[in-house]
Amino acid sequence: MLNDRYGNPASTKSQAAMNHYNEALDLIRLYRGDPIAALDAALAEDPDFGGAWAARAGLLVQQTDKAYAEETAKSLRAGAAANLNDREAKHLKAAQDWAEGRYGEGTARLARIAQENPRDLLALQYAHVGCFFLGLQSELRDWPLQAMRAFRQGEDGYSYIQGMAAFGFEECGDYARADIYGRQAVETDPRDGWAVHAVAHVNEMRGDPDAGILWLADNAQYWAPESGFAYHNWWHLALLYLDLGDTRAVLKLYDEQVRPNPDAQVVLEWIDASALLWRLHLEGVDVGDRFEKLAACWQRAGEDTIYAFNDLHAIMAFLGAGRAIDAERTLKAMRAAAADSGDNAYATRKVGLPLAEAFIAFEAGRYGEAVEKIAATRGIAQRFGGSHAQRDIISLTALHAALRGGFANTAEAFAAERLAHKPQSPWAGRLARQARELSAKARAA
Ligand SMILES: [Fe+2]
Repeated sequence: MLNDRYGNPASTKSQAAMNHYNEALDLIRLYRGDPIAALDAALAEDPDFGGAWAARAGLLVQQTDKAYAEETAKSLRAGAAANLNDREAKHLKAAQDWAEGRYGEGTARLARIAQENPRDLLALQYAHVGCFFLGLQSELRDWPLQAMRAFRQGEDGYSYIQGMAAFGFEECGDYARADIYGRQAVETDPRDGWAVHAVAHVNEMRGDPDAGILWLADNAQYWAPESGFAYHNWWHLALLYLDLGDTRAVLKLYDEQVRPNPDAQVVLEWIDASALLWRLHLEGVDVGDRFEKLAACWQRAGEDTIYAFNDLHAIMAFLGAGRAIDAERTLKAMRAAAADSGDNAYATRKVGLPLAEAFIAFEAGRYGEAVEKIAATRGIAQRFGGSHAQRDIISLTALHAALRGGFANTAEAFAAERLAHKPQSPWAGRLARQARELSAKARAA
């Protein structure tokens, strides 16, 4: 039996399979290239390499897309029939948990693998992604911090753990340490899109678009090529331009980087696209036919209800495209999903569904209802996953609902909160001015 690049014993005796597997581990930690192809190359060398099947299944379930269900099932079946050591068997079980909707259990299992096998960076990263989807903020920070004990600074793998910890620090509001860890990781490997991303989040949360634009644009030559995650970092860059009020730059980034292929079947890309267009929609920017094109993609997944966070973003696209019937269709599917059991049912019931109703109310001009529903849900919205920056769309929608509905005090309250968090943000300043003007009008009336 051979060890992988971090020294974890694996169930293959084929050095050629291990070489491809190690290449896959490199691509996975960098969110780069085609790790499935590298795993398939490993499995072509040794079809009984259970660890490679488990890694494959784990990667597929993270796409939160039912389109991969068949390939996932194939990997799980083949993995169960292959050679597996104890650690690999746990990986496979975690992927099965995810495939069957037990997101919390699967994530906890991966985190336990990483605790017991602190050099299993794959388990750590898959757990990290799981924590992201579940909004487990302190775990995003603490599992990587635990694993750092097993790697020396500068050793292969160390900087990727730093990058994960950086994002965890950021989600926990420790921007100073997030910045230090993220920058150190990028210094070690400038291709590390996740670490680049952590620092971009720091700039987003601090409301510092100039620093954020400089950071992302300066490093793009390293993080962007061949990155399977680039669309998301470009999305962050677009948010920063939106903060500056440069909507032309935002639309250019949307067309050229976030959605360069309007037919691309990548759900995680659709989420960013919906989130960007909805923000522009709130700002009253004409986005042309982009919502229609995006809604056409969401069509096939609009009733999948495997992840409430996705469902809300499908609804944004349908509403933006004027397809109220499709938005209602997704809402109906969410109501059915909420009555089910399991992790997504809980997230749908507590967060996804009330927010979907709020966004539909917003589009229908029922601004009071939109504000009420968001105000009642916002405090636990992390339970349906995503980052603070992504979930900011909830507060933005509430603020715009208050502005449009003429609720001057509510608008001022949301705007004041925003400005306190982001005192340098031109966007926060613009919204605060709009809220003040509404108040002045209300007083004058
Ligand atoms: Fe992000």
